[in-house]
Amino acid sequence: MRFVIAGNWKLNKSPTEAATFFIEWKKNFTPHADRECVIFPTALVASCVAEHSKSADIKWGGQNCYFEAKGAFTGENSAAILAEMGANFVLVGHSERRKIFNESDELLSKKLAAAQKFGLTPMLCLGETLDERNANKTEVVIERQLRIGLNERVPGYPIYLAYEPVWAIGTGVVASVGQVAHAHAFIQKVLGNILSPDEIARTPVLYGGSVNAENCRELANVPFLNGFLVGGASLDPKVFLSIYNVQLSGRQ
Ligand code: PGA
Repeated sequence: MRFVIAGNWKLNKSPTEAATFFIEWKKNFTPHADRECVIFPTALVASCVAEHSKSADIKWGGQNCYFEAKGAFTGENSAAILAEMGANFVLVGHSERRKIFNESDELLSKKLAAAQKFGLTPMLCLGETLDERNANKTEVVIERQLRIGLNERVPGYPIYLAYEPVWAIGTGVVASVGQVAHAHAFIQKVLGNILSPDEIARTPVLYGGSVNAENCRELANVPFLNGFLVGGASLDPKVFLSIYNVQLSGRQ
């Protein structure tokens, strides 16, 4: 399985800024065969990213999609349109979607299935809030998000997962290696009851939450961790490139 370095730009970067990112990226970029790079831009700059990302060896995806392909859903985007534009991925259930836009596990399961049906790989985000962690509910929350979130999936179709503890997102507080290792091992255990061994072997589980150029090397060695979902540190091409170039030799 290739190591995945994904950048979530959130509501940042205009078309001009996105184009500048790729110009800078290409100046210093040498592809590594053992890793895969993905950018999640806003839907508004998708065509700009589609144009620039090919020659940069970067795949891209939507940050969200509705579960219907088209119709009277003002303001929404669909997996069908993203796929036609050349996207490969879509984020499903980022904690900001769950919290700010009240997206439930049941809704996310429909979105995940819609993405798969239109040929996109969903990257389902999971993770507990600080209150849930302090109440010893981390495992209960992760298990619920996985069980319901994967409920309507199309068996055998690719899925990526990203464990992102909410308290570590955008806070500068990165989860400790022990906390990430525990969560990743637990995710494997839950997946064992949901997916076939073959599907599990093809499902990368990323970590996200204040990943930066300094902490990525230590985190990259966590067992069962197959990549990073990077927010703030993905906005600067030099910083994101140094995360892409993270030393992977210590990995088991
Ligand atoms: P962060 O965001 O790296 O800025 O913490 C991660 C994410 O929201 O995916």
